[in-house]
Amino acid sequence: MSQIISQPGDTGEAAMLAETGYSQTAIKYYMEKPNMREMPDADQVSEFLGSCGDTMKVFLKIDDNTITDASYQVLGCPGAISAAMAAVDLIRGKDLDFAKKLNDGDIFKVLVEIPVKKHHCIQLAVKALHKAVDEYRNGTNGNKAPDACGSDCDCKNGCPSKDIIA
Ligand code: FES
Repeated sequence: MSQIISQPGDTGEAAMLAETGYSQTAIKYYMEKPNMREMPDADQVSEFLGSCGDTMKVFLKIDDNTITDASYQVLGCPGAISAAMAAVDLIRGKDLDFAKKLNDGDIFKVLVEIPVKKHHCIQLAVKALHKAVDEYRNGTNGNKAPDACGSDCDCKNGCPSKDIIA
């Protein structure tokens, strides 16, 4: 994350973000969106709607309690997108407890700086992640098709996701 994106004389989006208080690290995450993608084979897909109206979808690939891969889809501002991208880099290869304990400060440290008015956007990424971990542990996978249920699903009396999927 050392590459400088905005240069003197740059009048583009990166320069505007730098002027409004985004660090070069945050700008790079926002511009490159390295962890922004759908994950068709995810073990957990969860969606979270923020109070600002922005939305995040979290995808987790989990193997024996370890998050082997993760991604987000974000309908939101540069603060939300950069926070989500940083969150993935923090949790990839870590266990679910680590993800559940991840907080705003952890992400802010990675981003270095974003505008004060955008600090709440980091919470959106964190809350979406925590929801995904909780739903994985509860066996609630709101965005997976019923026939994609894992073989370890033991919901013999009806899939807990059924009502959400309908
Ligand atoms: Fe909604 Fe940033 S304004 S997440």
